[in-house]
Amino acid sequence: MRRILIANPKGGSGKSTLAAHLACWFAWQEDQVLLGDTDRQQSLAGWLQHRPPSLPRIHGWDVKPGEPARPPRGTQVAILDSPAGLHGKRLKALLGMVDQVIVPLQTGIFDFRATAGFLEELAETKALRRDEIRVAAVGMRVNTRTNNGRELIPFLNRFAVPLVTQLREATLYRDTIARGMTLFDLTEARTRQDRAQWQPLLDWVTAPR
Ligand SMILES: Nc1ncnc2c1ncn2[C@@H]1O[C@H](COP(=O)(O)OP(=O)(O)OP(=O)(O)O)[C@@H](O)[C@H]1O
Ligand SMILES: [Mg+2]
Repeated sequence: MRRILIANPKGGSGKSTLAAHLACWFAWQEDQVLLGDTDRQQSLAGWLQHRPPSLPRIHGWDVKPGEPARPPRGTQVAILDSPAGLHGKRLKALLGMVDQVIVPLQTGIFDFRATAGFLEELAETKALRRDEIRVAAVGMRVNTRTNNGRELIPFLNRFAVPLVTQLREATLYRDTIARGMTLFDLTEARTRQDRAQWQPLLDWVTAPR
């Protein structure tokens, strides 16, 4: 089973958007997918209720902080969304449940500041030092015209976290999420550019250890 945590304490960095898309992509690969919402706002639990029943099913998973959570038998992929401000004990508890962490990150001094402490905390975690957990970052809402995502590379180098891909800013992300869907529910023809941007992340996530 793959167990993936999506985390960044910076609010609005794109965690829930990334988690929904990843879960949806796996669901299209015919995997049994659990999407865990550890966010008190339960944004993704609400999104799942909106999801048209004709589309590949994604199962909800209510993860209570502090409680040991074991996904039901048959689960192939468990994706955990997390709330803004995640750190300390709660972060540690969630890290104990996963083998991969994806950090969505936007450019900008406020985002970098909020994320730097988190990446330091991650780097000090035993499971990471022992290589039991792999970490990668994804540039979010990158403006492809100005390529503002360039700034992410020197920032992430300080923490030895790879930037696996960068996703463009597009209203399509917002519009599809609002309909209980993601870009992966749309035709290849409509989403070719975005799927190409996602591919390096999908390769990273599915790479054998
Ligand atoms: N690539 C993108 N292009 C355009 N809008 C995006 C993109 N990614 C995310 N957004 C928008 O950015 C906003 C924040 O995204 P999201 O809710 O996924 O962040 P979050 O990290 O889960 O926030 P929170 O910390 O509040 O849980 C949302 O309105 C979302 O639709
Ligand atoms: Mg969220």
